[in-house]
Amino acid sequence: MTLRILTACLLLTASGAVFANGDAAAGANKAKPCMACHGNDFNATADGQYPRLAGQYQDYLARALHEYKSGDRSNPIMQGMASSLSDADIDDITAYVSHLPSKLHDLSHMKRK
Ligand code: HEC
Repeated sequence: MTLRILTACLLLTASGAVFANGDAAAGANKAKPCMACHGNDFNATADGQYPRLAGQYQDYLARALHEYKSGDRSNPIMQGMASSLSDADIDDITAYVSHLPSKLHDLSHMKRK
């Protein structure tokens, strides 16, 4: 896991991509309050009511959190959750969550045979 994150960081640095790095180990701890809704593995709880976050692009997750915090994206639940997060918390949490194994799948299973 750590090696993958390091490799990803190296690749990003090498390609000159600019986005938050964050500390995934610290993020694992900071992400605990999120599990009640987003699931212990961040693939959503069984009722499917909340979005899956595992494996989602880090910059997407970070942007969503910044937007909830600023009110640019409005959702009362997430605004409450994001309002107490610092920029560093967002970097750390999204570094962690974006590297979790995702159970997201595409729509290919919807194709008719
Ligand atoms: C009480 C339930 C609840 C908790 C706890 C919670 N969330 Fe959410 N989260 C939601 C809901 C509901 C949405 C969908 C909101 C919307 O429609 O914009 C959401 C959406 C998100 C999104 C956007 C997903 C997307 O695909 O656009 C992110 C990122 C996110 N949450 C991160 C977090 C993080 C990080 C935490 C912990 C700090 C957290 N959430 C805690 C309920 C929750």
